[in-house]
Amino acid sequence: MARKLWDKNSNTDQDIERFTVGRDREMDLYLGKYDVLGSMAHITMLESIGLLEKEELTALLAELKNIYQLADNGDFVIEEGVEDVHSQVEAMLTERLGDVGKKIHSGRSRNDQVLLDLKLFTRAQIQEIVELVDQLATTLLTQSEKYKSVLMPGYTHLQVAMPSSFGLWFGAYAESLVDDLQLMQAAYRICNRNPLGSAAGYGSSFPLNRQMTTDLLGFDGMNYNVVYAQMGRGKMERTVGFAIAGVAATLSKLAYDACLFNSQNFNFIKLPNEYTTGSSIMPHKKNPDVFELTRAKCNKLQALPQQIMMIANNLPSGYFRDLQIIKEVFLPAFDELKDCLVMVNRMMGGMKVNEQILEDCRYDLIFSVEEVNRLATEGMPFRDAYKHVGLAIEAGEFQPNKSVNHTHEGSIGNLCNDQISALKNDIVISFGFDKVEAAEKQLLGK
Ligand code: ARG
Repeated sequence: MARKLWDKNSNTDQDIERFTVGRDREMDLYLGKYDVLGSMAHITMLESIGLLEKEELTALLAELKNIYQLADNGDFVIEEGVEDVHSQVEAMLTERLGDVGKKIHSGRSRNDQVLLDLKLFTRAQIQEIVELVDQLATTLLTQSEKYKSVLMPGYTHLQVAMPSSFGLWFGAYAESLVDDLQLMQAAYRICNRNPLGSAAGYGSSFPLNRQMTTDLLGFDGMNYNVVYAQMGRGKMERTVGFAIAGVAATLSKLAYDACLFNSQNFNFIKLPNEYTTGSSIMPHKKNPDVFELTRAKCNKLQALPQQIMMIANNLPSGYFRDLQIIKEVFLPAFDELKDCLVMVNRMMGGMKVNEQILEDCRYDLIFSVEEVNRLATEGMPFRDAYKHVGLAIEAGEFQPNKSVNHTHEGSIGNLCNDQISALKNDIVISFGFDKVEAAEKQLLGK
């Protein structure tokens, strides 16, 4: 099997080879399926402009489908000594079909090939993330509705402040995720443009039909300017990194709330026993380790856009090998986030709340503003009412009236969960994943 696409019968120093290939043989496994899909679109286009014979295309497509199947089953490997996924796929075609395998690279460079692979991989990953965020938001809204009439203390400065509710608490994180989806969609739009045809970053003298590969791969459109298409390497990852960091930030805040509220000193929520972990020495412990690990992993994920920036920020235009290193931080990030989303969904779905928490007199003062508002409604100026209640509190004479009546949008008595849910559904639908799925299915002849 040919070892290097750029082999010109001279040897490269072994250490140089090890250093430059780096972790590509491991990282490029994420890209196997997408490298094949990209090649299918590219050669279909090559045939249409006369650079491949019909029979050659047929044979190549059939073999590429086999390789796709291999990758889909998790059996695709990049062999020892083979540089990267692009070399592996071309080598497999050449081994199985002979010289025709060597024809597929006309009008293409590994620079636009890896750009393309990264975009196809990323849009598939974004689809999975969106589905998991949708599921978690739905769980949170269900819990919010279930516990909408159960009050809990609200805090400012971690000081007991005003009445809140479990309905508000669960629903707040659902709405946060909806906003995170908005940013994710902006990142998706930037990702979903075809860079193929930019070749090494300056286009090609072959009369490539870029609109054709754009349509075959179900892209929204193309990165028109070939220099800009290459500049998208690192920019797309950084942009998606920000969107990943947005979801991660919501999860780590939720995780901290959950750890705090689960503590005996708060006692607001209870996790199912089987979702907690024990201690080797303290027989009573039921620790919220899942939330603690989520918090740490999601804090780490929030560094992703910064990591990408540090790798790529000071590069001029044009391809550089530096860009290869982005894969090491970017590609594994999706699995990490997905894992957290799945676990947090389980935890939040199984969570029970303490319906009696406000019977504890330490929270009586959260009703002070309710009392001020009641007096103000009866005609006392707000500032006078404030002072009246304040003095009663100081004198130890404040008697809380624990029934609250909040009616405006987004308040305890009017959560607007239906509106939040509708917003979520609109955003999820407008990604347009079905268009991508249909294009990929057609390319694979399914
Ligand atoms: N492994 C390379 C990367 O990820 C593929 C592109 C190689 N291009 C090159 N000109 N050496 O960037």
